[in-house]
Amino acid sequence: MEPTRDRAWETLTRYTKSEALLRHALAVEASTAWYARSFGEDEERWRVVALLHDFDYEIHPTLDQHPQDGAPILREEGYPEDVVETVLSHAEHLHMPRDTQLKRTLFACDELSGFIHACGLVRPTGLDGLEPKSVRKKLKQPSFAAGVHRDEVYAGAELLGIELDEHVRNVVEALQPIAPQLGLRTAATEAAS
Ligand SMILES: [Fe+2]
Ligand SMILES: [Fe+2]
Repeated sequence: MEPTRDRAWETLTRYTKSEALLRHALAVEASTAWYARSFGEDEERWRVVALLHDFDYEIHPTLDQHPQDGAPILREEGYPEDVVETVLSHAEHLHMPRDTQLKRTLFACDELSGFIHACGLVRPTGLDGLEPKSVRKKLKQPSFAAGVHRDEVYAGAELLGIELDEHVRNVVEALQPIAPQLGLRTAATEAAS
C-alpha cells in the first residue's frame, strides 16, 4: 500500500474523535511538512507519519500501550514498516534510534508544535507576531502548558542541529496557515472583532 495523506487522515479519524488530539495531529503534520519542504524530502510520506504518530492515543492513553500497541494496527491497515517504525520512534520510553531525518524531525516537532499552539491560544492575535523570545519565556514557566515536556523541546532543536529560536520561527510559520483549523485567532480576525 502506498500511504497517502488522505488515507492517514482516514485512519486517524477512525480511532480519534477528540478535537484536541486531532488538532495536535494537524499541528505536528504542518510542522513536519514544513521541514519536508525545507529539506526537499517526500512531503506526503512525512505528513502520513506525522498524522499517525498519536493515532492510537485515544484508545491507548497510557505509555504501557501508546504507541507500541498501535503498531500492529498500522501493520494490519497495510502501512509500510518504515512508517510504523518512525511512528514508534517518537516515544522516548521506547528508546529507539532516531536514525533518519524524518524521525528526528517528528520528535522535534511533536512537543514544540503543542507548545506553540498553546502560546497562540492565549494571545489575542494567535500566532501573528509571536516571537521566539516570548516562547522561551513561557517555556520557563512550568505552569504554562504543563503537559509539554520542556526537555524534549530543547532536545528536539538539538537533534535537528538548529537553534531553538530558529526552530520556533519555523514552527510558527508552519502553523500560521492552519490557524483557523487549530482554533486560533489571527491579527485579521482580531481586527474584525
Ligand atoms: Fe505520542
Ligand atoms: Fe504527539
